[in-house]
Amino acid sequence: MANAYALGEAASRTTGQVDALFLFITVVSLFFFLLVEGLLIYFAIKYRRKKGAGAAETPDIRSHLFLETVWVLIPSLVVVAFFYYGYLVFRDIRAPAPGATDIHVTARQFLFEFRYPDGRSSINEVTVPVGKPVKLILSSDDVIHSFFVPAYRIKQDMVPGQYTTLYLHPDKAGTYDILCAEYCGVGHSVMRARLMVMEPGEYAEWRKGKTVAAAGTLAEQGKELVEKSGCLGCHAVEGKEKVGPNFGKQFGRKVLLADGTSVNADEEYIRESIVDPGAKVVNGYPNVMPTFKVTLSPGDVTAIIAYLTSLSGGGREEKGEKGKTLTETYGCLGCHSADGSVRVGPSFKGLFGRQVELEGGGKVAADEAYLRESVYRPQAKIVKGFPAIMPVFQGKIPEEDLSSIIVYIKTLK
Ligand code: CUA
Repeated sequence: MANAYALGEAASRTTGQVDALFLFITVVSLFFFLLVEGLLIYFAIKYRRKKGAGAAETPDIRSHLFLETVWVLIPSLVVVAFFYYGYLVFRDIRAPAPGATDIHVTARQFLFEFRYPDGRSSINEVTVPVGKPVKLILSSDDVIHSFFVPAYRIKQDMVPGQYTTLYLHPDKAGTYDILCAEYCGVGHSVMRARLMVMEPGEYAEWRKGKTVAAAGTLAEQGKELVEKSGCLGCHAVEGKEKVGPNFGKQFGRKVLLADGTSVNADEEYIRESIVDPGAKVVNGYPNVMPTFKVTLSPGDVTAIIAYLTSLSGGGREEKGEKGKTLTETYGCLGCHSADGSVRVGPSFKGLFGRQVELEGGGKVAADEAYLRESVYRPQAKIVKGFPAIMPVFQGKIPEEDLSSIIVYIKTLK
C-alpha cells in the first residue's frame, strides 16, 4: 500500500492512515458497484421481452417491508462507516502533537517562506528531523495558496489574514515535494518547495550551520541566493521566458516600462526591483512580484547584482588564473608562499577550509568570510605564531579582485 494512488512512498504515519482509508472506501464502493451493476445486467437479460411473446402484465407489487428496510439500512451503515473511519483519521491528523517544533510558513506569489524558532529563515526549502513532530503555522501574504505534501497525504489552505495549522510526522529521511495546490496566479505551476527530512545527527549538524557550504565568490553567492530565494520560479536565466523577464539579458540594458518611460537595468534598478518590485514594471509583464525587502539583506542584494552582472558578462569561469596574477600584482607573495613554505605570514597552500589557531586563544575556520576579513582588516584575527604586521587592504584591493584571489587560494589544496 506504500504507493497506493501513485502519490509517492510512505514517508509519514499519515501516509499509511490516509491510504488505508482510501483503500477501504474504494474496495467497499467497488463491491457495491459490481453488485448493483451485475444485478442490473442480470435482470435486464432475464426479464427482457422475448421474441414473439405478447405483452406481459406487470404484477402489482405494493411494498416489501423487509427488502426496503435492508436497502435503507445497509447503505446507511456503509456511509456511517465511511464517515466514522474518516473522522478517526482526520482527528488523528489534526490532533496537536506534543513537543512539536513550530515553523511559520508564509506563502507569496509564487514561493513559500519558512521561519524557524531560532530566527533563521529559508525559501522554498524546509528542514526537519526524523521522528519529531512539526507544527506548521500557515498564512499567506496575498491570495489563497494551499500547502500540499503528496508523500504525507496532507494538504491545508493558506489564507491571507488568517493562520491555519498542519502537523507533520516525518518518519523517514529524504526529500519530499511540497506543492501549491490552489490556483493562485500565473506562477502557480512553478510554486513548489522541498521538505528535507534529516536523521537526527545530520539535523544537529545542519542546525549548527556546518553543512552550510563555504560561500564562493560574490557572484556564486548571488547565484545561490537566486536559487534558494525562489527567483527562478518566475525568472528563467535564458531561453523561454517564465512570468518575469529573463535574467541573462537584463543587465545594463535599456528597458521599456509599463508607463511608457524607459530605464537602464543597472544596479540601482535591480535593487529597487527586488525591494519595491511595483515601482518600475517592465512593459508587457504582470505586476505580481512580491517584495524581498525583508527576506534579502542589502548584502544579499549586492551578491545577486554581482551574479546578474556576471551573466551578461558571458559568465566567465575563473579557475584561479586571474587570482594568481593578482597575488603577484598586490605583492601578497612577498609574505605568503603558495607552496607551503613559511615566510612572514601563513602559506596560502592548504589554507582554505582549515581550522586556524588564533593569537590569544580560539580557533576559526579559514573560510571565505575569514579570508575576506584577513585581507581587509588583518588585525581582527591574527594567526597564532605570526606577527601582526600585515597592512590593511581595504579600499586597495577591489571586491572583484579579492574574489578572484580567494578563488585562487581555494585551488591551493
Ligand atoms: Cu500558490 Cu498556487
